[in-house]
Amino acid sequence: DWTPAHFVTDTVEQLKKQIGNRKVIMALSGGVDSTVAATLIHKAIGSNLFGIFVDNGVLRKNEFQQVLDTYNKIGLNVKGVDAKQRFYDEFKGKTDPEAKRKVIGKLFIDVFQEEAHKLEGIEMLGQGTIYPDVIESISVHGPSVTIKSHHNVGGLPEKMHLQLVEPLRFLFKDEVRRVGKELGIPDEMLGRHPFPGPGLAIRILGEVTEEKVELLQDADHVYINGLREHNLYNSIWQAGAILLPVKSVGVMGDERTYEYTLALRAVTSVDGMTADWAHLPYDFLAHISNEIINNVKGINRVVYDISSKPPATIEWE
Ligand code: XMP
Repeated sequence: DWTPAHFVTDTVEQLKKQIGNRKVIMALSGGVDSTVAATLIHKAIGSNLFGIFVDNGVLRKNEFQQVLDTYNKIGLNVKGVDAKQRFYDEFKGKTDPEAKRKVIGKLFIDVFQEEAHKLEGIEMLGQGTIYPDVIESISVHGPSVTIKSHHNVGGLPEKMHLQLVEPLRFLFKDEVRRVGKELGIPDEMLGRHPFPGPGLAIRILGEVTEEKVELLQDADHVYINGLREHNLYNSIWQAGAILLPVKSVGVMGDERTYEYTLALRAVTSVDGMTADWAHLPYDFLAHISNEIINNVKGINRVVYDISSKPPATIEWE
């Protein structure tokens, strides 16, 4: 019988055998998968696991510090690397979604490799790959048409000649969460919505600048906090705000404004492959719209995305 407790015992045993006294490096994202995978590996080999968490400048508001604090609480050995400015420099002039993904993917590998070189004698690479990533990467990189180039799988190992350690490779998301609970990982970490690797860069349509990131971080923060406060967060699979490259006319006091439009997105889904727009209560939407327009300077109009996947996708880019 599969139980989280058995899985943890068996996997830790296997990891000890597989890894021995070799050193493992691992990129952490603050997401459920990489956190659970790292915690398992840490249980097996302790401080021979070296976690790297990169601030790519397109994380959510306060996310870098909060995630590092959680890793500390769990007892993981993780180094936070602030690479924000390098990413902002590379975003200049890039408007195409795939070009932006390439910037993130490539620069991330650069930063990660630099950190790996600073450590001595690393031989293995830990990854939080789960079963749907394996399947999705086959269909994304295989014969079918590429819709969006995800970089959850691949990229790092080929270049670095490291042996892979992937303890979650045969698990589905709900099983990963149950294993995480068994490992004592805090609920606020396990219950987090999925967040794309390219982060807010693919939620700022067009060119990404530091100013736009700050604007979107503030608006997104109001939205996500509102979902939590109104007990809606856990009934939604994924939510986020999107900054549109559209300005429109509004009025504030007796002044004319000409500012950005923000789209709110929330979907229900089982695995992200298909998704329905979430029927959030009108009262909640009205409240959030007011909060954002009154408190986030630079946005004077809020719209709600009522498209399902397919034919739309969850992210706008
Ligand atoms: P779409 O927009 O394709 O998104 O319906 C499905 C799920 O995948 C996430 N997503 C990404 N995750 N790198 C990632 O790691 C990416 O480039 C990327 N693009 C989309 C999206 O947030 C949703 O959970």
